[in-house]
Amino acid sequence: MPLDVIIGAQWGDEGKGRITDLLAAEADIVARYSGGDNAGHTVTVGEQIFKLHLIPSGIVHPHTTCLLGSGMVVNPAILLGEIDDLASMGVNVSPNRLKLSSAAHVLTPAHIALDGAEETRRKGEMLGTTRRGIGPAYKDKAARSGLRLGAMREPEEFAIQMEEHIRAVGEVLERIYNLESPDPVEVAGTYCEYAKRLRPYLTDVGGFVDQALREGKTVLAEGAQGTLLDLDHGTYPFVTSSYPTTPGALIGLGVGPKHLRRIIGVTKAFQTRVGSGPFPTEVFEETADKLRGTGENPWDEYGTTTGRPRRVGWLDGILLRYAVRVNGFTELALTKLDILTGLDPLKLCLSYRRNEDTYHDLPDGPADLSPFTPEYGELPGWRSDLWEIHHRDDLPHEAQSYIRRVEELAELKVSLISVGPEREQVIHWNITA
Ligand code: GDP
Ligand code: IMO
Ligand code: MG
Repeated sequence: MPLDVIIGAQWGDEGKGRITDLLAAEADIVARYSGGDNAGHTVTVGEQIFKLHLIPSGIVHPHTTCLLGSGMVVNPAILLGEIDDLASMGVNVSPNRLKLSSAAHVLTPAHIALDGAEETRRKGEMLGTTRRGIGPAYKDKAARSGLRLGAMREPEEFAIQMEEHIRAVGEVLERIYNLESPDPVEVAGTYCEYAKRLRPYLTDVGGFVDQALREGKTVLAEGAQGTLLDLDHGTYPFVTSSYPTTPGALIGLGVGPKHLRRIIGVTKAFQTRVGSGPFPTEVFEETADKLRGTGENPWDEYGTTTGRPRRVGWLDGILLRYAVRVNGFTELALTKLDILTGLDPLKLCLSYRRNEDTYHDLPDGPADLSPFTPEYGELPGWRSDLWEIHHRDDLPHEAQSYIRRVEELAELKVSLISVGPEREQVIHWNITA
């Protein structure tokens, strides 16, 4: 009856989708629990590349049931688009294997318009959101004025509520931002049609997960975003509006902690961030070009959701250890080790300096990292390609030393390493129970 959780240990895009795909082979249920279509998870299976924003990456495995939990905000237009795209790729996305929590919140065109308007008003201090309406949707949820997916069970009534919602937000858009509001009647009509299509998928996800765990099934929770984007525990205010961390998985699925088994923190072998905010180990010029790639390869560091070039840097051991602490990881999955090939020497951030003082842990959380300068350790790099390596002992010695150094810094074992985007490009480093 285990619940395994996959969590981003950094600022998102760590490769959670591909690690989920790997573990979904052994899971009965795969569930997203927080965020919305600000997420972009990529799964590569031979020639097929799946880019998922709302539906769990586990959908790629035909034997799984996939859930969207109550902690999510769901744009029905994006969800239906994703359902149609997957169906056209031959994936079964019928209501008997895809289920939506009736307690998840509905994301609307008014939220999207507000997200853009708020970002534009921040001018030089933009958060760099994905402009998918995430912040405004969670704001409505916290203000207890949001619409939940369960309301779609009565499409006509739902349409009336939608019309009222668009009128209310429209007033804010027009009066405060001097922007045109989406047409309430038109949106209500469209959402009424969405409701008719999505109604069969609605489920009590918490009850469903509980029943599955009681029956001894394995549930895999697929995190979106990352620890440093957590509303409470991230680099506030440069965060998202949900809880990507381990406790968020429990709240966002509606289950207690007693079922937890593996809590897998996914970290890249380096560091990336898309959007604004502090990034102590950020690098520029030649090293950045090497880490980011040109954009020619699907795995190069350009956002899956927005196409924006990601900021890149050396792996930050202080922030990694912080993520281990906040989430209670039982192990790490280290992705994109192949990208470090050819970089020599490699750097790892071992400590932070502020004035005369050296810190091995954050004295006051990650919100204000500006006074700190990273202090690096250097390790020799390697030149050989890692793509064809399947066994840990075949990794170059320098790569093995790098992984061991990451484990020392994180004070946690690495269980998996990935050396390419394909399913089989995974190496078991420490075999866990
Ligand atoms: P997620 O949001 O955490 O699921 O990560 P994304 O899918 O947004 O970004 C990770 C990108 O890196 C995707 O394009 C993956 O296919 C790719 N990727 C994942 N692991 C590896 C790896 O080990 N090596 C390489 N080269 N690419 C990888
Ligand atoms: P996955 O699941 C990377 C970032 C945005 C921005 C901040 C707030 O693919 O790892 P939001 O639209 O959520 O209000 O934006 O959070 N962000 C992500 N960065 N990967 C993601 O998801 C992200 N989801 C949000 O870039 O800095
Ligand atoms: Mg992503």
